[in-house]
Amino acid sequence: MKPAIMVTRAIFPEVLSRLEEYFEVDSNQDDIIFTPSELASRLKGKAGALATASARINAELLQQLPGLKMVASMAVGYDNIDVAACTAHGVMASNTPEVLNETTADFGWALLMATARRVTESEHWLRAGHWTKWRYDYFLGPDVHGSTLGIIGMGRIGQAIARRSMGFDMKVVYHNRSRLSAEQEAHANHAQYVSKEDLLRQSDHVVLVLPYSPASRHTIAEAELNLMKPTATLVNLARGGIVDDAALIAALRSKRIAAAGLDVFENEPKFNPDFLTLQNVVLTPHIASASEATRRAMANRAADNLIAGLTGGRPGDLLNP
Ligand code: GLV
Repeated sequence: MKPAIMVTRAIFPEVLSRLEEYFEVDSNQDDIIFTPSELASRLKGKAGALATASARINAELLQQLPGLKMVASMAVGYDNIDVAACTAHGVMASNTPEVLNETTADFGWALLMATARRVTESEHWLRAGHWTKWRYDYFLGPDVHGSTLGIIGMGRIGQAIARRSMGFDMKVVYHNRSRLSAEQEAHANHAQYVSKEDLLRQSDHVVLVLPYSPASRHTIAEAELNLMKPTATLVNLARGGIVDDAALIAALRSKRIAAAGLDVFENEPKFNPDFLTLQNVVLTPHIASASEATRRAMANRAADNLIAGLTGGRPGDLLNP
């Protein structure tokens, strides 16, 4: 008999078909957002789950699911998974690293450029019918080329963002839990390791790509925003909660910093509506990894992990070996 699994959210149909070769699949192609208790009841009796970053996998859930052997998440960030609780309950957990590095780095640049050069703000103005003449001072913004890029969180995605800055003749400074090797720094456009405070003081454009944890909560709050240049921009590609959104809204409103580009928010998708009242912020709905090829690769990688874990193999991306 095939093991039973649950695919907790809608997924590419061909990935579902692949899973059906190995498993009895209960899927949620209607993409209903389950409450924790609905998720628990759908997962009862299942050996595995293919989940996304929106599912909270914690001790309270795992206690109700003695038969569960594995949760394969389709995301690189896994702050939604209590890995220690999974280990305590004998549940394997996996994520999908690597496959999204370059796509996410591309999107970091899309947000950086759109934010600095006021792309969405000027488009909204044009669409609203305000464009009746050209003026020398319409939508002036800071330059990207030749400026200083500050990257907080210099993992694989941060390094891919730094590499791209070579073409813009930028200086790169970074802050990370640990310093990169000299070779890695050289590949990352000769990035220089600095303290978070020095990075915020020096950078013209700050990009956040660090993982969320209780320790990284509000890495950027009022005190940090106050260190930034008034002409600086801030991009958050990482997770909601790394930035104190209320403090950022205040800083954008008072022009304490020039602008922000945000793909992630505290409490998303119910983000702080005050963002909508500001012109100097570019807002996108958590799509940094959303290229056609990469989202397929992530789904297949999560499926590979689940298939390996439930057929006696070792998932390539096991978080709790
Ligand atoms: C997306 O946010 C991911 O962690 O993959």
